[in-house]
Amino acid sequence: MTRREMQDLAVRLGQEHGAGVELDAALAPRLSMRVGGRAAAIIEPRGAEEVASLVEALRAVSAPHHLLGGGSNVLADDGDLDFLVVQVPADASSVSIDDVLLRVGAGVKLAVVLREAAKAGLSGLEWAAGLPGTIGGAVFGNAGAFGGEIGPSVREVALLDAQGVLRRHRPEPNDFAYRHSFVREGELVLEVELELERSTPEAVRDEMNRVNTQRSASQPKGGHSSGCVFKNPEGGQAGRLIDECGLKGRRAGGVHVSEAHGNFFINDGDATAADIHALITTVRDEVRRQRGIELECELRHWGPRDDGEGGTS
Ligand code: EPU
Repeated sequence: MTRREMQDLAVRLGQEHGAGVELDAALAPRLSMRVGGRAAAIIEPRGAEEVASLVEALRAVSAPHHLLGGGSNVLADDGDLDFLVVQVPADASSVSIDDVLLRVGAGVKLAVVLREAAKAGLSGLEWAAGLPGTIGGAVFGNAGAFGGEIGPSVREVALLDAQGVLRRHRPEPNDFAYRHSFVREGELVLEVELELERSTPEAVRDEMNRVNTQRSASQPKGGHSSGCVFKNPEGGQAGRLIDECGLKGRRAGGVHVSEAHGNFFINDGDATAADIHALITTVRDEVRRQRGIELECELRHWGPRDDGEGGTS
């Protein structure tokens, strides 16, 4: 399928599904790293059901596409990217609370979920204070920080499976592992039900403040980054290894390794994807050379022409 055909398809599907469409759409403003070229088109459906029917239509004609949630874990290449992007809607009104259960649309930012949980005095997500991204992306990658993880709070996930069938899944404990969940490539998280614990708004906010203080003591403030670049290797911490290898401050073009935390790359404002790839390679090679450890990147790479079919990123 040519770029032009993808764009014609996007315009037609946008009309049929009541979705907004932007052609030759810049990805950088939508990704927390603020790097990336132009997708053939970005389609913005209004609700979860529209996302489902749209993705089904794209799959039916094998149109290359990616699903974009909060954009905090995506490294998109520079230049023209020949695929479509479906932006999962970030509808704050799709948070509903019933006793200790929170039902949340996949595109809702974690920060919004936390704010609503705090207002209702529900505890269990405080560890996520300050994390970027959406709840859908957090479940897909089993986001975690400061000893917490999203997995144990997830009671049910509504997802569109690779065949386009809507499925509700109640996860078992072994459905989640470090930065990994039962949600597979090609599946789309539509809605998440979280089970929290009754507390008070004050106690929840106090704990969130404590986490925020801890985060600002150990992680960079400001600047555009994508959070941690590498997964922690078995029995170690990528940030510490990078630090011990003397790589803090190392630079490639417009990106450098944070001085505050070795596993964060900071975009100085004019970084390109090529710069980030170069820095990833330098850091990986140096850690391998000095310590014999192979670091694995935690970012999802969107190449110039790939068939998408990813989970929510
Ligand atoms: N450390 C250093 N130098 C550094 C960074 C860290 O010596 O430059 C040391 C710290 O002093 C500490 C240890 O390494 O003793 C671990 O560091 P930290 O507590 O910051 O945790 P981490 O393992 O580096 C993980 C997650 C973060 C999460 C933090 C907070 C991964 C890859 N990273 O980092 O998640 O915010 O814990 O709990 O699992 C992310 O996934 O995007 C992310 C940032």
